Amino acid sequence: SQKLVKAEKDAEAPQENPYLAHLPPSERLVGGAAASGRKNPYGLAPNHPLANFVIGATTAEQAEAAEEGDINPFTDKPFSDKYRKILAGRRKLPVNKHRKEFLNLVQNNQVVILVGETGSGKTTQIPQFLVFDELPGFKGKKIACTQPRRLAAMSVAQRVAEEMDVVMGQEVGYNIRFEDCTSASTILQYMTDGMLLREAMNDPLLTRYSAIILDEAHDRTLSTDILMGLMKEIIRKRSDLKVVVMSATLDAGKFQKYFDDAPLMSVPGRTFPVEIYYTPEPESDYLEAAIFTALQIHRSEDPGDILLFLTGEEEIEDACKKIKMEADMMPDTGPVKVLPLYSTLPPQAQKRIYEDAPPPRTPEGRPGRKIVVSTNIAETSLTIDGIVYVIDPGFSKQKVYNPRIRVESLLVSPISKASAQQRSGRAGRTRPGKCFRLYTENAFMKELIETTYPEILRSNLGTVVLQLKKLGIDDLVHFDFMDPPAPETLMRALELLNYLGALDDDGNLTPLGSIMADFPLDPQLAKMLIMSPQYGCSNEIMTIVSLLNVPLVFVRPADQRKAADEAKAQFAHPDGDHLTLLNVYHAYKTSGEDQKWCYDNYCNYRTLKSADNVRTQLKRYMERFDLDLVSLPFDERPKGPYYTGIRKALVTGYFMQVAHQERSGNYLTVKDNQVVRLHPSSCLDHAAEWVIYNEFVLTNQNFIRTVTEVKAEWLLDIAPIYFDLDSFPNCEGKRVLEKLLRRRKDEEDMKKNRKSDRSDRDRD
Ligand code: CDP
Ligand code: MG
Repeated sequence: SQKLVKAEKDAEAPQENPYLAHLPPSERLVGGAAASGRKNPYGLAPNHPLANFVIGATTAEQAEAAEEGDINPFTDKPFSDKYRKILAGRRKLPVNKHRKEFLNLVQNNQVVILVGETGSGKTTQIPQFLVFDELPGFKGKKIACTQPRRLAAMSVAQRVAEEMDVVMGQEVGYNIRFEDCTSASTILQYMTDGMLLREAMNDPLLTRYSAIILDEAHDRTLSTDILMGLMKEIIRKRSDLKVVVMSATLDAGKFQKYFDDAPLMSVPGRTFPVEIYYTPEPESDYLEAAIFTALQIHRSEDPGDILLFLTGEEEIEDACKKIKMEADMMPDTGPVKVLPLYSTLPPQAQKRIYEDAPPPRTPEGRPGRKIVVSTNIAETSLTIDGIVYVIDPGFSKQKVYNPRIRVESLLVSPISKASAQQRSGRAGRTRPGKCFRLYTENAFMKELIETTYPEILRSNLGTVVLQLKKLGIDDLVHFDFMDPPAPETLMRALELLNYLGALDDDGNLTPLGSIMADFPLDPQLAKMLIMSPQYGCSNEIMTIVSLLNVPLVFVRPADQRKAADEAKAQFAHPDGDHLTLLNVYHAYKTSGEDQKWCYDNYCNYRTLKSADNVRTQLKRYMERFDLDLVSLPFDERPKGPYYTGIRKALVTGYFMQVAHQERSGNYLTVKDNQVVRLHPSSCLDHAAEWVIYNEFVLTNQNFIRTVTEVKAEWLLDIAPIYFDLDSFPNCEGKRVLEKLLRRRKDEEDMKKNRKSDRSDRDRD
């Protein structure tokens, strides 16, 4: 009864290849041109900077000459002055000396492992080396360079677009979830590892790429780990594909071994000594200690910028304000520029980390200082030149997963020794530096683990298992994981997907699961969206899902909490937070998407705008799968089916994230029996017996966040298999459901009896 399966749109008509525009039309189609290995196979004019290049046999001298020429070979426009200035700097990067060696390796091997200190030029230069060797544009292909972090992908693409003197989004672009900044002319594409994995689901051999660079491999994110496994399979079937795996740490031997002894190239870093200081006693409040240390450095140390590592947005913004305020009050010191850096920071704000320190207040005054307060994105992903002092409190936000209670959460946790070493290394980029570790030397030696565990060992694998199934990898147990996940975690993922209907009882992908995999969402949200037309409210669910996929909409500055909470109360829906999100979105649309309205109402304008963009894209997915875009009657809201319908639709995805309120007032998660409390931010205004939740927050107390009230009957009707009470541990919730089932059975029996009474009478 579900109309789910509908073939995707016909493959797009063959596109004209912009790099072959000089050829007659019949030869311009992608794939229509000659093969590599020949001189000037594309009939370039003899004076074209690339005319003498042989694809796959470019020399370093040739490439450098083209870079130093007058005309940009990829745009045919003259190079700008700015380009030449940047080029001079690029030539000084450590990887530049190894261009020849790199080309030699990559031309003779399908896989190359490259290790180099952060800041040696891996991310920005190596892809360009490959561009000149592969000339992917002429083959109608591109080069991909993956990044674990969205912000890094965007930021590095911007930088490389400048380095290659092209417009961002043209020859150089980036592609991250819900934001594709590439075009038909793109030959070098930075992208998140997750996006490349998504692409593989529909193009298993990644045919659009002539080379794939897996950058930041040491980070061992879930997607990079899976991609490495896929690469091993793809290279067997595509001898033309080059793979480069890049890492900032020296334990690259593990990658080398994994890729059947692929050659390893190691670029020695250009680093200066860093003096390490520890605190003599453990710090009870790392935040306070960090701020104090930053101010102390500013007061008494020589000029040089400071990098302080903290764990998240709120903490960072708070620390920035405090440091700025205190530093401005200090007598006899230079001015400070305090800059935050975290993943959800708007691009303009994020670019400021590359600005110079402020000038002295007076010509004779003390020099200014830049202080960057960052998450661990500045550990290896982004390099900030000029840092001389690093403050390392020893913590970062890390994902943890407990398969027993099916809870994944972000926790502020101690970093590893390897991370601590990376962090201190950031102080020695331009001259000798100092690193202040806000923990004892003993703690470093005895308490920190050697390296952070790969994400695959700390994650819920629901999304990944669905993607692997879609990739046709059925036998997960024998997939070549670099570090295999715990069997229990895999079981949990299979179980989740089975309950959601994405996998059948034999673990095979269902038609529903196949569509779910295509949605760039968690399986629960994908399921909800796909089912929503049946509840008449796909437009509303699209809105809610969009808002769940962007940062928090509500702004709550530390010094204006009361006003912010009052503003939020205007949107509060008594039945809970999902409906509150819907109210905010409607109000934002009614305001005419007005920035001032957002400001006045403590809503984040940028977040709402990006939610709207996410929504537009989800709408395209809905259309692609022929899923109806429908709404329930809005005018009959208070009594009509509007909110009930939406809440029922939420249950189709969230039925495994349910909590029941016990007589004690506590909530207990269903089946896992974890005691949880409603997060203080929740708008739910009454003691709701049953709630669904979006997120389980582990802190010193367990909270459930983004919560909406549901009815027991809906749970039984919408997810009868999950709510099979025989599989339930004993608890109040179970007894309530049992009672409900008994009552239902009694009613049915009564109906049946009445019917048979009637038919008896009829016979009389
Ligand atoms: O990837 P890896 O850490 O080896 O280095 P990279 O990201 O390629 O950065 C190399 C150099 O490029 C940095 O040291 C900076 O000098 C420069 N860079 C920059 O000036 N602005 C950026 N947005 C990115 C890099
Ligand atoms: Mg890098």
